[in-house]
This record gives sequence, structure tokens and C-alpha cells, in this order.
Amino acid sequence: MKKFYIETYGCQMNVYDSQLVKSILTSNHWEETDNYKEADLILVNTCAVREHAETRVRGRLGLFKAVKKQNPQIKVGLLGCMGQRLKERLLEEEPVLDFVMGPDTYKRLPQTLEKVYSGEKIADVKLDKNENYDEIYPRRDDPYKVSAYVTISRGCDNMCAFCIVPFTRGRERSKKPDLILKEVEQAIEMGYKEVNLLGQNVDKYQYEDVDFARLLEMVARLDSNMRVRFLTSYPQHMKNSVLEVMAKYENIARNIHLPVQSGSNRILELMRRGYTREWYLDRIKAIREIVPDCAIGTDIIAGFCTETEQDHQQTIDLMEQVQFDYAFMFKYSERPNTYAARNLPDDVPEEVKIRRLNEIIDLQNKHSYQSNKKDVGKTFRVLVENTSRRSEKQLLGRNSQGKVIIFEGDKKLIGQYVDVEVYDFTQATLLGKMKN
Ligand code: 5AD
Ligand code: SF4
Repeated sequence: MKKFYIETYGCQMNVYDSQLVKSILTSNHWEETDNYKEADLILVNTCAVREHAETRVRGRLGLFKAVKKQNPQIKVGLLGCMGQRLKERLLEEEPVLDFVMGPDTYKRLPQTLEKVYSGEKIADVKLDKNENYDEIYPRRDDPYKVSAYVTISRGCDNMCAFCIVPFTRGRERSKKPDLILKEVEQAIEMGYKEVNLLGQNVDKYQYEDVDFARLLEMVARLDSNMRVRFLTSYPQHMKNSVLEVMAKYENIARNIHLPVQSGSNRILELMRRGYTREWYLDRIKAIREIVPDCAIGTDIIAGFCTETEQDHQQTIDLMEQVQFDYAFMFKYSERPNTYAARNLPDDVPEEVKIRRLNEIIDLQNKHSYQSNKKDVGKTFRVLVENTSRRSEKQLLGRNSQGKVIIFEGDKKLIGQYVDVEVYDFTQATLLGKMKN
């Protein structure tokens, strides 16, 4: 049997997509290897969200070029968002590549490979607004069976001014609820302890009369011992009905990722986010009222087009008001063909972007520290994910809020739930002791 090796960049949706690709290939006489040196086929599933993500992949292709030089039989394919964005152009720019595919064409992988092996160079990048990979089940191969990703919707119709995703992942579409439930049930049967429902905007999930609140409730009811996470929420569309379902089911993780991007109404409007700062703060208030123990995380972009010092201060001020438990923070990176690239000047100087980003990061570090401090003395149900990076005797797990807790314990507990009491913390992690 021929062997393939796959490397994944970007978000959880891409991790899931790679599992689909593995499933398609392994049912077509391919075998996976985790060593690219022994592979006949090298696949790179890519991200295009910021320029940096693409630069990294190009660097990686340099390595695979050297591998291919030693063994010219090897084929190299680039999948995912970067492939969708650059299409056939990539075949010219990166001669190491034999083929390029976008996120909606993986079903054709066996046919594409046939052509590739007969010497063709191919860019198969047609977006398909109906493609949900309905009949394909992802290949889940976590030996510890911790968390299973389940994609509930694909694509995005929001068209935020800065974002490449609507161009790389196409129109928004929701997967049939029955199929989602079947996929979750399958993961439960396999022994997975947690499920993570994925969509660019889960709040816009809609299949006939099933909206996200209903879907979430159906999934939560399958098994009260299975923790249910979801990602990503969208401020304009996040409804109280979802929060009410969360409050009703203890096994739904107390964690909402609600990207704000900016605290300035002027910038939010330029970003075409469809909400104001006041609206966002009202959503935060609703979360705190309805699901009081919920952790709230966000994404922030520093230095978007025309951002002034005043706008930046508004972001700082919003952070102070909300006190996010965690945040992913980026400096603005212009993406070709987006609304912002076509219509707005990328005029914040690089050093100003960096300085503002650092201010945001410093403030968030303080808030993360404060958030962790509040957990001292509390006991959490923790799903053990692995040993800690530092020591084999230490375990690393996550509580319902998604926070990482390190504690002493036996490796045999990986993949299980245990109760852990927190006695200390750093800005990044909680330190705990297992309770018997
Ligand atoms: N530049 C910087 N950050 C971006 N993001 C998306 N597009 C860009 C861009 N062009 C960030 C947003 C989004 C997260 C996934 O990536 O904060 O929520
Ligand atoms: Fe995921 Fe967006 Fe990157 Fe595509 S561009 S892999 S959707 S983060």
C-alpha cells in the first residue's frame, strides 16, 4: 500500500477537514504515515487568514522540495484555504506542487490522484455551496479519545471587511442535523469524551426548522457524561436561546468564544461587523446573567485600516469593561481582494500596529491572571488530555471553562474525567491537586 503524510495548519475546521481527507484516502487503498520521509504522497492543509500563515507554509514547501529531489517519485499536494485563494497560480509559484485543492473538492481526491500519477498538474478549486461531506465520516485517530471535532456548518456569508474566509470557504451551509447527531453518536461509541461543534459562525446554523439552540440541545442530550463545546460564536447573531440551553445542560462547556475584533464603533463599522460596541457589551451581559460561570474569550485585531489612537483606546476600554478570560490577538494583515484591501487604506504603520498589539497583549495577560486567580480553591471536573510538557508524572487537562489545569496523576487517567482542586496558578495555567 502507498503511504501518505498530511500536515495541518490553521483552525479546527482544517483539523476536521484533514480527518475527512484521511478517511477518503484510507478507504482508497492509502495508508497514513506520520513520517514524511517514508511517504509517497505529502499533503499540506493550509490556512490563508493572515499573511504569516502563508509564509510558514511556503517555508515548509522548501523542505518538501529537498525531499522530492532525493525521491522524485513523491507527489506533493496543497489543500485548504491557501489553495483556494491562489489556485493554479500556486502551481507556477511553487513547482514542488503536483496539485492544489480547495476545501470543497476533497471527495474527488482519488480521481485527482489518478490524474496526478499519470503526470498531470492539477488545480481543483471549485467551491460548491452544497458540499457538506454528508456521506463521509472523519477518521478519528486520537489514541486517548479525548475530543472529537464535528463540523456543523461550512463557509461564511458575513463578509467582514478584513477576512479572507468567505473567499476561501465559500457560501454558508448547514449540515443536516440527523447526520451531525449520527457523527456525534459514532464518536461516543468510539469512546470520545468530548465533542466540539465547529462552524465559522455557529449561531447562524439553520437546517429547516432546526437552529443552533435546538441542535445544541439535541447534542447535549445524547450523553450527559459527554462534554459539548462549540466554536465560533458571532456577536450579531448570538441569541439568548443558546445561552438558555447552556444553562439547562451542565455538560455543555462553560465557554463562549465571541470575537469582538475592536472596541471602536467607527472601526466596527469599517470592518462591516454588523454590531456596535454597545450591542457587544449587551451580549456579554446576557452571558453573565444566564450562564454565570461561563468563561468568555475573544479575538482582537490591532491596527485595522485608519485606526486612530482613540479607536485603540476604545478597544483597551472595552477589554477593561469585559475582562476577558482569554483572547487571541493579532495585528491587521491585509488580505488581497477582501473589501478592506479593495476599499480601505492599510495605513497604520507597522511599528504602531506592533505597539498597540503589545498593549493589548499586556492588558490581556493581566486579565488572564486575574481570571485564574479567582479559581483558586475551586474544584473542577477536568478532562485529562495528556501528560504535561514538563513531566511525565504531571497531567494536563481542561475544565468546562476550557482552562488548562496541571496536576499530578497517573498516565492511565488520560482520556478520563477527574475532579481537581486548584491551589495555585500562573497567567497561563491553573495548578491543582486531584481529589479522590
Ligand atoms: N488580519 C489579522 N487578523 C485577522 N483575523 C481574520 N482576518 C484577519 C486579518 N486579515 C483574525 C480575526 C478572526 C481570527 C480567526 O483571525 O480576529 O476572528
Ligand atoms: Fe481556518 Fe480561516 Fe485559516 Fe481557513 S483561513 S484554515 S477557515 S482560520
